[in-house]
Amino acid sequence: MELIDGKRIAQTVRATIQAEVHQLKRLGIVPGLAVILVGEDPASISYVTGKEKACAEMGIRSFDHRLPDTTPPETLFHLIERLNQDPSVDGILLQLPLPRGLPERQLLNCIDPEKDVDGFHPMNLGKLLLGEETFLPCTPHGILKIFELEGIDPAGKHVVILGRSITVGRPLLNLLSRKGVGGNATVTICHTGTPNVSFYTRQADILVVATGSPRLVQGSMVKEGVVVIDVGVNRIPDPTKKSGYRLVGDVDFDSVAPKASKITPVPGGVGPMTITMLLYNTVWAAKKREKSNRSVQGRSVGG
Ligand code: GUN
Repeated sequence: MELIDGKRIAQTVRATIQAEVHQLKRLGIVPGLAVILVGEDPASISYVTGKEKACAEMGIRSFDHRLPDTTPPETLFHLIERLNQDPSVDGILLQLPLPRGLPERQLLNCIDPEKDVDGFHPMNLGKLLLGEETFLPCTPHGILKIFELEGIDPAGKHVVILGRSITVGRPLLNLLSRKGVGGNATVTICHTGTPNVSFYTRQADILVVATGSPRLVQGSMVKEGVVVIDVGVNRIPDPTKKSGYRLVGDVDFDSVAPKASKITPVPGGVGPMTITMLLYNTVWAAKKREKSNRSVQGRSVGG
């Protein structure tokens, strides 16, 4: 069994992103990411803090908007509108899930598609479906990058995805089944409506698990030699830890790892790649802004 070191892969990708940030700075552009966090969910606070720290390390400006869970929807619509208009903001991230009662989909729909670094706007999800160039959602994008840099070619393989979320499962289904490099897989997606999930997981050459259920996948559910990508990050009580909890994935690592050819750990697997692809998308948004500024200037100079 080989452990997939997400931190190391992330460092490799971040070196390229860093070079692009330097290049943009020479042109007078500092990429900017606005992060909106509503409420006090400890996991979301920890993700958002990680995203902001990564931005700082990269020389990307982050604009932190932390709001109480009593925030009315109008305040959020106004904030997003203001960030849409702000020329120093290249990317807008609305941390999910939002507290109950807030209109998540309507708020995501309000984000300018050109600043939608999560790739959750209908325009960008539609482009993804059509195979057009667009912001790819960060976790699926990070998984594609892991495959690319670990020499895992999904072509002709049976990929089984557990979980049909818009953040992971559904975009990944489309990306892996598309024609071309990095795609061409046969993909099965399982969800809460799937009877006998083991029937599918045992067939998987590559198993991606994004369900939010701690240690759902047990060793008896996979075949020898499977590649396992564990997207889950779950806190379970652990009195031996100072914090009182520890992180586990959606895969029972101890029983699955001995059967796997490769497996991502939790933490240190997919997580660092999700953040890395957010940085990548933010820098891409800034590059597009720089390009469009230049073409506007070119037009005015040229008459
Ligand atoms: N919550 C869990 N994953 C994500 C993500 O990729 N983006 C946002 N905005 N929220 C999330």
